[in-house]
Amino acid sequence: MQQRGRFITLEGGEGVGKSTNLAWLAQWLTARGIEVVRTREPGGTPRAEAMRELLLAPQADEPLDADAELLLVFAARAQHLAQCIRPALQRGAWVLCDRFTDATFAYQGGGRGIAADRIAQLERFVQQGLEPDLTLLLDMPVEAAQRRLQGRLAASGQARDRFEQEHAAFFEAVRRAYLARASAAPRRVAVIDADAPLETVQARLAACLEERTGAWR
Ligand SMILES: Nc1ncnc2c1ncn2[C@@H]1O[C@H](COP(=O)(O)OP(=O)(O)OP(=O)(O)O)[C@@H](O)[C@H]1O
Ligand SMILES: [Mg+2]
Repeated sequence: MQQRGRFITLEGGEGVGKSTNLAWLAQWLTARGIEVVRTREPGGTPRAEAMRELLLAPQADEPLDADAELLLVFAARAQHLAQCIRPALQRGAWVLCDRFTDATFAYQGGGRGIAADRIAQLERFVQQGLEPDLTLLLDMPVEAAQRRLQGRLAASGQARDRFEQEHAAFFEAVRRAYLARASAAPRRVAVIDADAPLETVQARLAACLEERTGAWR
């Protein structure tokens, strides 16, 4: 029987290098003969991406209620799991996802102040026990990550989304919540120091993958 694929998530605050390193990790795994599905949250399917738009659009005249935000995140996740993640894992592909439920605990929990047990209830309801096999948490000081993000925004000319418009205290709370998730689940979550040149971060990621996925293959 076909072996179930592996589910790897990349996490961390704005600008720590998730998207940059996800592309690199996909190549790294593909070069080792693994079928990789690259995806992201919120989003990952056309309908879930439409929900992402609702989540990220800067609020014009109507603020988005924090509970509505949380439910929308999980609605998008349910769609993404059903249409993309579960089928890919089923056929043996490895799924590499840019953010997942740790981000919900970090942003809606740490950032917005929603109690972790309410988030955990939705996690059980939507995921039915499915969780990442490995989570790579890219961690660095908020200020340095903000400088990177500014560089990217300036280069692309894109406006800041609803989360990117938040303030330093929000991002500090997000970072603390991420690190707390990592200490609570050290076997699943690997913390990677991302405050270094890209090649150094990639060498750290490769070493971590060698160590953690060696036994899977
Ligand atoms: N190790 C690094 N050193 C210097 N710059 C980097 C490094 N990693 C990524 N960058 C640059 O920093 C910017 C942010 O990186 P990236 O978009 O990958 O972050 P992200 O975590 O995906 O951000 P977001 O949360 O906004 O999606 C990009 O311009 C990228 O080229
Ligand atoms: Mg990104």
